[in-house]
Amino acid sequence: MTTTAKILVTSALPYANGSIHLGHLVEVIQADIWVRFQKMQGRSCIYVCADDTHGTPIMLAAQKQGISPEALIDKVHQEHQQDFQAFAIGFDHYYTTHSEENRELSRFIYQRLKQAGYITTRAVEQAYDSVKQMFLPDRFIKGECPVCGEADQYGDNCEKCHKSYDASELKNPISVVSGTRPIKKSSEHYFFKLPEFTQMLQQWTTQGHLQEEISSKLKEWFEAGLQEWDISRDAPYFGFEIPEAKDKYFYVWLDAPIGYMASFKNYCQQQGLDFDEYWQADSKTELYHFIGKDIVYFHALFWPAMLAGAGFRTPTAIFTHGFLTIDGKKMSKSKGTFIKASTYLKHLAPEYLRYYFACKLNASISDIDLNLDDFSQRVNSDLVGKVINIASRSSSFLKRQFHHQLAQQLPNNDLYAEFVKASTSIAEAYQQREYSQAMREIMHLADQANQYIAEQKPWLMAKNPNQTDALHQVCTLAINLFMVLIVYLKPVLPLLAEKVEALLNIATMTWQTIETPLLNHTINAFQPLMPRVDTKQIQAIQQDSVQDLQVKS
Ligand code: 2FM
Ligand code: ZN
Repeated sequence: MTTTAKILVTSALPYANGSIHLGHLVEVIQADIWVRFQKMQGRSCIYVCADDTHGTPIMLAAQKQGISPEALIDKVHQEHQQDFQAFAIGFDHYYTTHSEENRELSRFIYQRLKQAGYITTRAVEQAYDSVKQMFLPDRFIKGECPVCGEADQYGDNCEKCHKSYDASELKNPISVVSGTRPIKKSSEHYFFKLPEFTQMLQQWTTQGHLQEEISSKLKEWFEAGLQEWDISRDAPYFGFEIPEAKDKYFYVWLDAPIGYMASFKNYCQQQGLDFDEYWQADSKTELYHFIGKDIVYFHALFWPAMLAGAGFRTPTAIFTHGFLTIDGKKMSKSKGTFIKASTYLKHLAPEYLRYYFACKLNASISDIDLNLDDFSQRVNSDLVGKVINIASRSSSFLKRQFHHQLAQQLPNNDLYAEFVKASTSIAEAYQQREYSQAMREIMHLADQANQYIAEQKPWLMAKNPNQTDALHQVCTLAINLFMVLIVYLKPVLPLLAEKVEALLNIATMTWQTIETPLLNHTINAFQPLMPRVDTKQIQAIQQDSVQDLQVKS
């Protein structure tokens, strides 16, 4: 990657009918660390996202609450933004897919695909609720499992025997919306001719835009053959109407990724940026999408095909991550491990989680486990015990004996130089999304700093008037090593970094800050930077999470 490129980054758009939970946070934290790292390098990097507002579940959720879909998505938009802000996710723009820009872009892309012959129509037979007068997506049909007979199973798979099946195979099906038995009804649907892009996609998916694991998974899909994609839904539906088609709407997954473009377009209007420079077919800018492995099909097949078919650029890369497990298991509502962002925030500061996820994240698609015991131990021993401790120990001597003034020189240039030298491999680890590697290297440096302090024994120097200068220099070096560590941690811990900037009385840290040690400089009085995590706080989060569930049901 060239350092002069303009970069645009997105993370998956959260649905506007549910709260932000720890699963969403893995992704936005992963993307945010990467974006903050790019910005610290002085690169132009814009991070946009939005709420994913369309579809049947959102329409029905609004009805259930007795409000309009617009009112529901506005309410949820505010909550989502609050949660993300609290976790220091530095979106440059957080928009909504229910916007004029998105309506126009969705129509435009559709029209172009249609003109190029990539749209076709045919009749599809589906389950229909004749009381509610609507077609039913699979998850709105329940019935007995066709394999094991278990009652009350959803239309796509059985929670008891875990078999997948077609909703039409359910025995004694009922519509979840009206409680009546669905009928079969046929209607005309619009399809995107994905198979026409087979050759283009076979190339695109093997040209370094995807992780190896994803490329090989896609090979299986190519072998099975690509299918035409149903992009229409019948009224009633909350979404955008298809031009020149009566009572037909774009399926939410058509306008959702276009929502990336639309959010950026709105941002361009605000900021006076050139939208086309980023999206035209021969764009020199870079486009990265952070996503979870459940939505690869949409991003690695449909999306590049739609973009190419409509004459736009395709993504530079798609960065896929694994699922979050908690204590080795899927998040579970009844065990109190389905943790909402707002529930976590009632008990703990956001940066503990940012750090823990950074310790677990790498560029692979394997799952990320949040082990609750390990979480508190790791945060306490690494951040509080190793990193913050360096500043609290040395600043107390600087306060008592040197009026917060740093010495004129370092006692040991080699150690500082060694810390600076680590910058290259730490930066490379961030760039490659190998955050766990970056955290390991940073903590290794923190160990070295602590070892240096332990060897120098400033507490003994403080008792010996002949060693005042030496004490001054040792503490000065310790503060400088601490500064370098915080620069390296800043993409992960931006809030802590801000407090440290105030403590050290310095300007906003960039990656270059490490090049000049602080000498003959007055710092401010030490204030507690980060309290230890108490296991009681984690228990409280779990208890509240069980309660969240009871309040809801
Ligand atoms: O899976 C989801 O949660 C979707 N709302 C993600 C959409 S990402 C993008 F394509 F809009
Ligand atoms: Zn079953």
